[in-house]
Amino acid sequence: MRTEWYKNAVVYQIYPFSYRDSNNDGWGDIEGIIEKLDYIKELGVTAIWFSPLYRSPDYDYGYDTSDYKDIDPKFGTLEDFDRLLKECHDRDLKVIMDLAVNHTSTEHPWFKEAISSKDSPYRDYYIIREGRRKGKKLLPPTNWESTFTGSAWERIGDTDEFYLHLFCVEQADLNWENPKVREEVVSILNFWLERGVDGFRFDVFNMFSKVYPFGDDFSKDSFQKGAPFYVDGPRMHEFLKELNEKALSRYDTYTVGESFHPSEENAHAYVKESNHELDSIFNFGHLDADNIKGKKFFKKPFDLLQFKDGLFAPQRSYYGEGWNTLVLENHDNARSVSRFGIDTKHYRYEAATMLATLTFMGYGIPFIYMGQEIGMTNCDFKNIDEMKDPVSHFVYDLMCGYGIPKPLAFRFIKYGARDHARTPMQWNDSVNAGFNDGQKPWQCMNPEYKEINVEKDLASERSVYRYYQKLLAIKKNNETAIYGKTEEYDHINKKIAAYSREYNGKRLFVVSNFSNKQTDFIVPQWVKNAKVLLSNYDELIRKGQTLTLHPYQAVIFEERENDILKS
Ligand code: NOJ
Repeated sequence: MRTEWYKNAVVYQIYPFSYRDSNNDGWGDIEGIIEKLDYIKELGVTAIWFSPLYRSPDYDYGYDTSDYKDIDPKFGTLEDFDRLLKECHDRDLKVIMDLAVNHTSTEHPWFKEAISSKDSPYRDYYIIREGRRKGKKLLPPTNWESTFTGSAWERIGDTDEFYLHLFCVEQADLNWENPKVREEVVSILNFWLERGVDGFRFDVFNMFSKVYPFGDDFSKDSFQKGAPFYVDGPRMHEFLKELNEKALSRYDTYTVGESFHPSEENAHAYVKESNHELDSIFNFGHLDADNIKGKKFFKKPFDLLQFKDGLFAPQRSYYGEGWNTLVLENHDNARSVSRFGIDTKHYRYEAATMLATLTFMGYGIPFIYMGQEIGMTNCDFKNIDEMKDPVSHFVYDLMCGYGIPKPLAFRFIKYGARDHARTPMQWNDSVNAGFNDGQKPWQCMNPEYKEINVEKDLASERSVYRYYQKLLAIKKNNETAIYGKTEEYDHINKKIAAYSREYNGKRLFVVSNFSNKQTDFIVPQWVKNAKVLLSNYDELIRKGQTLTLHPYQAVIFEERENDILKS
């Protein structure tokens, strides 16, 4: 029986490498997470999503899986995982597993078998094609690009054949056309569902179905060379329905898909409840409002209108038909308080709480990335060697190869690096911020930890965590905040974002100032006398319909019963 528990869920994402290292070996682990479950529960979240915990050689830090049915030894054992699951469930916290099955690690036994002989039954688990001979040269089968730079094809030894990898060379794409591959995925899902997990986050799911026959991509508008052949392929909807029928729908699950530039039409179809595909997908459009065309390393002045478009379009599009998600950060993005033109130095608390209010009071499930709840900032990396993400290195090398001077290339990388999100969690101001007992962490600490850490935040009068607690309590319990329809207000305003939510005749109004200056804003007539449910400032200056908002002030208003009678 499906209970749709996810509709008023709040999800907390843990990147296990960096949460808490209980055995002081430099890597976060399951025992460390168990130690912190009360802290997580107290925040007010109802579910935890774990970035991959499976066995992996970590070329892409867990997103290259070499055994989907086991836990990587650096994190613990299957027994440790079962204990984690029980400890979560004892606290009424649901558990969402990450699953990267667009590709496997090239160290997965399937891949090793596949390339061991042309007759291997595993050969057809992957996408293997003859290269093209041009004179003496052997070219890849098509001109497609990997998301992580370079060709999407890698030659197999000294043969004429290549395998497809849309990400790292060490991440070989699975051939979802092969029913056996889909059976394997169903078996993985059932393995974890049987153990008791409550849901899955599917990594780059809309690349599962490719477009055949393959060819070169000469289109000018494709986001990446080859994308028309591997994004939203023709069997996507069928594949998702199959996973539902054979695994997901048999349990009380929740699914969220991480997609690569889906078309609007497909995005809508993936989440439409009556289609039985996914319960939700992530929408990241607003997170591109400070970079050029979705290219993370290329900064542009923050565009609030673009941010609003990205945030509100899915809320409008899915309402009434499918559920939505609300995201500011994850392991692939820089820290939100260090972005979006924010004056972090002077207004970190105000901005962290404003961004959360604006984003999480919308229509959908809030996803909080570890450390966001204390307003963790980007890291002042000193050089490229401090960064561990392969993508930072690929793009840095590419830029240097094009003749961009190293210091400039480093500046670009530092702007958008995923590494910012992956520095260890900052618990206190002791050695390594309490991540462990002193062993050098796999990824350097953010030196800000002396100032920004859990202990200090909780002791502060202006605690981001404590504000989140109040905000999440509203988000989970107020019916309008859960089910209300979002109506954006004053879209063209370049300093303020505002919207109403309405459900069963009840209304909320959310307003947030993106400026580091006091800013006037005229609210709708009905908000004039509305009750203030929450604000990140004690003071609210209002004169009739005009609010004078403090720098980065956010306010949630609720219509009073007698206001409704009057209007
Ligand atoms: C999306 C994941 O979030 C990211 O971390 C990973 O590198 C790629 N998919 C490839 O699996």
